[in-house]
Amino acid sequence: MREGIQIHIEQTQVQIERVEQAMEQLEARPGRKVCEAMRGLVEEAQHEIEQQDEKGPILDLVIVAGMQRIEHYEIAAYGTDVALAKALGEKEVADLLSETLEEERQTDLKLTDVTQKAIMPEALAGEEEEGGGDGGGGRWSRRRKAA
Ligand SMILES: [Fe+2]
Repeated sequence: MREGIQIHIEQTQVQIERVEQAMEQLEARPGRKVCEAMRGLVEEAQHEIEQQDEKGPILDLVIVAGMQRIEHYEIAAYGTDVALAKALGEKEVADLLSETLEEERQTDLKLTDVTQKAIMPEALAGEEEEGGGDGGGGRWSRRRKAA
């Protein structure tokens, strides 16, 4: 997981460089401003993580869900940017940003894959162990019922 995060950080650096190249291509001045939507997504993910009182597959699910919301926002943003660049006939810009869009899609697919293959089976196995004596459903289902 830690190695994956490192790769993602390096990938993000390359993505920033692509945005800068795209801005150069458009003869625009690249500024740096905080993305409020992204800040909100990160805060929400942190809040959800803090609400989990123990480590385990449920916490992992919460973490990955937060990461995927972020990836989906990035996919939406880059998808729009690529479409705009194409509409404006800025092929180089569209190509640059398409690379990033594809990386975001791949990251999203990897997160779905790890959830389906590793985290979800573990979470469901834990449910069966916990849920024996109380009429079915452990901590996870109780939370779902309460929600
Ligand atoms: Fe991303």
